[in-house]
Amino acid sequence: MALRDYEQWLRHYDDPDSSLSWRLRHVQAYLREDLDGRTGPVRIVSVCAGDGRDIIDVLAARDDASRVEAVLLEAHPRMADRAKDRAAAAGLTGVRVRVCDAADTSAYVDAVPADILLLVGIFGNISETDISKTIATAPQFCAPGATVLWSRGRDGSRNDINDRIRAEFAEVGFGELTYAESDPVSGAALGAVRYDGAPVPLDPGQHLFTFWR
Ligand SMILES: C[S@@+](CC[C@H](N)C(=O)[O-])C[C@H]1O[C@@H](n2cnc3c(N)ncnc32)[C@H](O)[C@@H]1O
Repeated sequence: MALRDYEQWLRHYDDPDSSLSWRLRHVQAYLREDLDGRTGPVRIVSVCAGDGRDIIDVLAARDDASRVEAVLLEAHPRMADRAKDRAAAAGLTGVRVRVCDAADTSAYVDAVPADILLLVGIFGNISETDISKTIATAPQFCAPGATVLWSRGRDGSRNDINDRIRAEFAEVGFGELTYAESDPVSGAALGAVRYDGAPVPLDPGQHLFTFWR
């Protein structure tokens, strides 16, 4: 199946009432709050980062952005260029954009363990098996105490798996910080969890997921 045109998809952000805009506002609010609660250097990794507007626009508004190193993993070269341009326009020297397959754990070498990990805009586009594999692997990407933001739209059916996703994070050592839905039946949902487990070394060369749209 052909993947959708993600550059076109970005236009949903132009509508402030879209579920995507709701999600972006929540991601950015959590990022601000998390950064406010940390001192010293902070490492952020965004998986399937798109144009990076969530992280970049938050950092652009902060006077302590220089303590943040952000690695954005994005497969689409034009999307990655958008992220690079956005970071450059904001004068952010700590943002690195990797054009890579973020489904391959080799892409995370030298970028993890992260203090903040974004898994946003992924779980609605990959299989349930791949979601489980990605969650089970997430400890490899996280420093102890790391915050992970994850999203998955509610689909309003009995197949809605968000509660299972929350349980799977708990099973591998994550405590839930918050979970919010734009609409309890259908719409965006965003979770934040903290990694309470021990460090887990990165195992490069593992394949985690395949986008189906
Ligand atoms: C739904 S968008 C989410 C973008 C961003 N996280 C956001 O919330 O705005 C999914 C992004 O994942 C990228 N993508 C899909 N498969 C990928 C892969 N295997 N590795 C890296 N990026 C991928 C797409 O190009 C697209 O930019």
